[in-house]
Amino acid sequence: MAEFKRVGVCGAGLMGAGIAQVSATAGFETVVYEVDKGALDKGMARIHASLDKFVEKGALPAAEREATLGRLEQTTNLEDLKRSDLVIEAIVENMPAKKELFRKLDALLAPPAVICSNTSSLCVIEMAAVTKRPKQIAGLHFFNPVPIMKLVEVVKTIVTDQATIDALFAFSVKLGKKPVLAQDTPGFIVNRILVPYLLYAIRMYEAGLATKEDIDEGMKLGCGHPMGPLQLLDFVGLDTTYYIAQIMFDEFKDPLMAPPPLLKRMVLAGHYGKKSGKGFYDYPS
Ligand code: 3HC
Repeated sequence: MAEFKRVGVCGAGLMGAGIAQVSATAGFETVVYEVDKGALDKGMARIHASLDKFVEKGALPAAEREATLGRLEQTTNLEDLKRSDLVIEAIVENMPAKKELFRKLDALLAPPAVICSNTSSLCVIEMAAVTKRPKQIAGLHFFNPVPIMKLVEVVKTIVTDQATIDALFAFSVKLGKKPVLAQDTPGFIVNRILVPYLLYAIRMYEAGLATKEDIDEGMKLGCGHPMGPLQLLDFVGLDTTYYIAQIMFDEFKDPLMAPPPLLKRMVLAGHYGKKSGKGFYDYPS
């Protein structure tokens, strides 16, 4: 089974920065790539803030913070990923952009290297099909906030080989995560259950069956969830959830996956949740 040593991460957004951080913290030589310097700086600032938080909480020794940053390279030149034996793509959820990147990575990386996508909803086989190494392509889906959430979905397409899956399981364990095996269907395991649940909470609120506070308290105190569904929607992003729901509805035509009218209107109004300052709740900056 291949053991990864040098890990490339494409994208330094919320997910990419988190993935690069946990990879470097776990001892992997890690290089994080972004198209422009501004986005890269923002991603690195996010990593610094997250590591600081762990140090403040006593969850990470200060020396480990420095060692993590020492293992982390940053670049705006894709060529710098060339020596990676694992590359994790965490760019925008847009299939043409992902396919273009997979083509470039396939041409750049050594033949045994594995390429993964952190997509939450797009079809992984569609990305694999543009490469000459489809057996070494899989999904590796992390959860937000990546440095804290313990789960990773390892997504096997209908052609991913077992050696790749085994290597990704071993890698996830080294990151301190619990890997689970998912198939390449929209929503994988978690979002397939979570998204209809979140949409149902919006429908209840939209129908005036309960206040948003009572819906959230209900699920927090009644089911032991750390956040209620409307709080979680604000945290994940209403735009992100709307996008995932549309893809799941397109594929399954299950009415439970259809985005409710209120969600569409909130997204159109720019009420994306925490990141925009307004969602179901207000987030003064
Ligand atoms: N690094 C990064 N973020 C950190 C952090 C660290 N070291 N420590 C805390 N956080 C974040 C929290 O998200 C939040 O952000 P803010 O400070 O910017 O407002 C804040 O820090 C809260 O800090 P707390 O110390 O109060 O953290 P809590 O102990 O309250 O835990 C939580 C926060 C872990 C987010 C918890 O509420 C939780 O588990 N919520 C549910 C999260 C969840 O369900 N995630 C999955 C979403 S679905 C998904 O990702 C799939 C995708 O495809 C859509």
